Amino acid sequence: MILDNISILTFKNIRDERLALEAGINCFVGDNGAGKTNILDAVHYLSFAKSMHTLTDRQSVMHGEEAFMIEGSFRRDDNRHEQVVCAYSSRGGKVLKRNGKEYDKLSEHVGAFPIVVVSPADSALISDSAEERRRYFNRLISQIDKQYMAALIRYNAALMERNKLLKTSPSEEMLLIYDAMLSAAADIIYRRRNEIVDTIRPLVEQYYALLSEERESVGMEYRSELSNATLDELLLASRQKDFVNEHTTCGIHRDDIVLSIGDYPLRKYGSQGQQKSFLIALKLAEYTLLAEYLDEKPVLLLDDLFDKLDMRRVAQLLRLVDGDKFGQILITDCNKHRLQRTLSEAGATYRLFNIAEGKSL
Ligand SMILES: Nc1ncnc2c1ncn2[C@@H]1O[C@H](COP(=O)(O)OP(=O)(O)O)[C@@H](O)[C@H]1O
Ligand SMILES: [Mg+2]
Repeated sequence: MILDNISILTFKNIRDERLALEAGINCFVGDNGAGKTNILDAVHYLSFAKSMHTLTDRQSVMHGEEAFMIEGSFRRDDNRHEQVVCAYSSRGGKVLKRNGKEYDKLSEHVGAFPIVVVSPADSALISDSAEERRRYFNRLISQIDKQYMAALIRYNAALMERNKLLKTSPSEEMLLIYDAMLSAAADIIYRRRNEIVDTIRPLVEQYYALLSEERESVGMEYRSELSNATLDELLLASRQKDFVNEHTTCGIHRDDIVLSIGDYPLRKYGSQGQQKSFLIALKLAEYTLLAEYLDEKPVLLLDDLFDKLDMRRVAQLLRLVDGDKFGQILITDCNKHRLQRTLSEAGATYRLFNIAEGKSL
């Protein structure tokens, strides 16, 4: 899939821009605060109908304005043209349209216009709690499996109700109903997480090896209480504890995906460069998975390309993504000369946009 054109109106520091993009590599260069990441975030809005940072829509409206609008013209891998508009106003809320038609539910859009983002903010995947990793995998799997997404919604709704119930003195029957709902949804979620981690692991290993000259192996392990028992059994066994704690103390909302390097936790023992390489390998594996399942090449966004990487590794990354397996790429960097030098070293052709104060010069 190629994003041919994007129009951005009163979105963050971008007042009114229309960019015609290349099918290959597009580079956005400019000083800190110029608006490079904001351009990528506008693309993120077209794909996910929200900011890639956990900002509210309101915060994405240019200061002093009432609304923003982002419009993208896409060309699919089968050459079909499609248009996506994402608009938000403080009064009217958010509207997402595909080819002029508004969606009934935003969830229908999930996976339809795939993108993969590599950004300095990814480090939260390593440094933060398991919740961050669950969120990442939930988003990834939801894009390729609507049943997973539906199960997740059912699970979270049932979990909320059960937790509410635990604060009262519920009847056995009521609890059993929620236990059954949780258990059925958890079964789907557990199986899919297991499968996806198994599918993605060899890809991560392969990309990590290509990216780095490091000798050690990388690992990824899915940890779930459900690997030893069904959720039905677990819920029954922890019922007294749940009453005392007034919330559900077991289930797939406590799963983790443990990332490691040379058999040790990545967070504690990986150097910054190793951690960053791992994250890029994970994102490239995500790309490969999405491309295969959706039969559509995602747009790859590389924000702050040189973040924590030396030139040699960046060149290696560029050589890798310049190949046939990857499609359109959007890159940002604050140092134009460094980027140009590395791109030519990697033998890549590209289009350059100079960005300053929210404008393409
Ligand atoms: N809602 C907003 N209205 C106006 N400017 C904004 C808004 N949100 C962020 N900005 C501005 O956008 C700039 C940051 O842009 P960003 O794309 O992150 O820069 P960079 O080029 O370094 O990636 C900052 O100057 C910030 O003040
Ligand atoms: Mg930035």
